[in-house]
Amino acid sequence: MFYRKECATIAQLTSLSSVDRRWGKVTMFPHDAVAIAHPNIAFIKYWGNRDHNLRIPTNGSISMNLEGLYTRTQVAFDAALVADELVLNGLPQSGPALQRVLTVLECVRSLAHTENHARVESENNFPTGVGIASSASAFAALSLAASAAVGLQLSERELSRLARLGSGSACRSVPGGFVEWQAGEGDEDSYAGSIAPPDYWELTDCIAVVSAEHKPTGSSQGHRLAESSPLQVARLAGTPQRLILCRQAILERDFDTLAIVTELDCHLMHAVMMTSRPALIYWAPATLSVMATVQTWRKGGLEVCYTIDAGPNVHILCPNHVSTRVVELIEQVPGVVQVLTAQPGGPARLVV
Ligand code: PMV
Repeated sequence: MFYRKECATIAQLTSLSSVDRRWGKVTMFPHDAVAIAHPNIAFIKYWGNRDHNLRIPTNGSISMNLEGLYTRTQVAFDAALVADELVLNGLPQSGPALQRVLTVLECVRSLAHTENHARVESENNFPTGVGIASSASAFAALSLAASAAVGLQLSERELSRLARLGSGSACRSVPGGFVEWQAGEGDEDSYAGSIAPPDYWELTDCIAVVSAEHKPTGSSQGHRLAESSPLQVARLAGTPQRLILCRQAILERDFDTLAIVTELDCHLMHAVMMTSRPALIYWAPATLSVMATVQTWRKGGLEVCYTIDAGPNVHILCPNHVSTRVVELIEQVPGVVQVLTAQPGGPARLVV
């Protein structure tokens, strides 16, 4: 099974003997743990992998965690279970959703030298599969809860690498605040770290929900199509420069530069999606209405900009002091069914 290879690489960095020393025997591990993690919104996007199994991206990316939105995951290892079980928002899961969770569970079992199966119960407090990256918060919370449940104390970097195996962007939901994922060359150097803590810059992400339906092509499939677009090469060529501009904009709290580089990067990713074979078009008519309206507001002097993930909803970024006004304005755009707001969020953490 392919995940054996991934576990082996993670295991090289993690001291298995320290686990044995701390707990004496594997039977002494605490068995269950609960973790929460926030989704994140990328300012500089990840789209395309150089290694699909290990989810090593073709480019680095920068994001902000979203406070207030979260996945809460409980993992319980139990010798009496005959197979792993996954319950998502109260519904038992099988097939691809369970298989992805197994990728992380198999790694954790291998690191902890246990063969026990696990029951995973996970809940989101926001709609799933609509461009609010639920897989990011899900795999960050799962990695932390599962590793804690078997008594592993992984470093932030190791947790970020583990979460990446389930969903690339999940590695960015492990550290807190404003986060950069360095693409790296392989498993060991592809992980995320904080650029600035959550309270560094008072920004709000106002999420204009225009559809709560599940997206037709998930991002795992989408990453595989990226290189079929003739525009992916051009997008990748300019990414290092955009990463520098975005990192500087965050560190200098420079909204104008953040707005320009974030919208450009979003347009480049969607241009690649739309020119892939087959073409991926995630936008709905209301997506374009919101984009055009935000551009008009900015020309009128309001500090706002947008970005869009693999879905139709629009993330509208603005400084906190204008967020109430921005939400009022977005609610009036035809086709917007709901507006969620989130400020910069903290790291994945255990719930005690
Ligand atoms: O982590 P994935 O496989 O769900 O991919 C995320 C892709 C985007 O959300 C479109 C961009 C990003 O960097 O978050």
